[in-house]
Amino acid sequence: MMEFDPLTSRIGCEVRGIELSGSVPPDAVAEIRKALVEHKVLFFRDQHHLTAGEHVAFGRLFGELEIHPFIGANRDHPELIVLNRSPGTESVRSLSPYGEDFWHSDVSWRAEPSFGSILRAKQLPPVGGDTLWADMEAAFHGLSPELQNAVRPLRAIHDFDKAFGAGVTADRKAAMAQKYPPVEHPVVRTHPDTGAPILYVNEPFTSRIVGMDIRESDALLNLLYRQASKPEYQCRLSWRPGTVALWDNRSTQHYACNDIGDGTRIMERVTIVGDRPY
Ligand code: SIN
Repeated sequence: MMEFDPLTSRIGCEVRGIELSGSVPPDAVAEIRKALVEHKVLFFRDQHHLTAGEHVAFGRLFGELEIHPFIGANRDHPELIVLNRSPGTESVRSLSPYGEDFWHSDVSWRAEPSFGSILRAKQLPPVGGDTLWADMEAAFHGLSPELQNAVRPLRAIHDFDKAFGAGVTADRKAAMAQKYPPVEHPVVRTHPDTGAPILYVNEPFTSRIVGMDIRESDALLNLLYRQASKPEYQCRLSWRPGTVALWDNRSTQHYACNDIGDGTRIMERVTIVGDRPY
């Protein structure tokens, strides 16, 4: 039987009593999904047996998996992106002015951004390298009622170019822009399972608010981006070998703390396809 141990009153929960794999039965998957919507990010410790193949198979239990067009993947599993921060390797930061150490919601530049992501620690540094998540439903509710009313009807453009445009050739950028043109999403999306309003703009992928003067748009977006950094909305995970995190990418943002010095940190992630935000 699974046991659920919340980390805070808002976000984060450790789940015990389950061995993750592609063979987790449907009733357990349904229980995990329910807990995910409630706690927004779930942590599973000591999943030492979870191979890359089983990681992918476990992800598929929640839906179709994305292939990331910019971040390199595991050689045998294209759905498994590799986030490698070690001296001399090509980290996301070497491809982009923004790395995982910026608050973000995965692939919000897609018309149908991801439902959730599953991250597994492959190699951890001696110290540092925690990941933080922010509850963007709480962030919305933390705004004054006046600002909530002002931002609710707004829409914003999300575009891969801001984060990944500088790291690719002009030809590839043009091809990617055809495949992934800038998309418009509501600034406040509705969670499809709970109906809750969620603040849905993030610094690496949101470029501007539709119809607003760029100076007003930048000022408002900067204020909204800053909401994720409020400690009261957050939980923080210190990774150990065998730890796996599963998060609801619709209601959270996350931040990988870049404090590992010369250490090596290698993570693998599958990303589950989601719905069009409304
Ligand atoms: C990510 O941004 O998906 C990766 C987070 C991490 O490496 O902790």
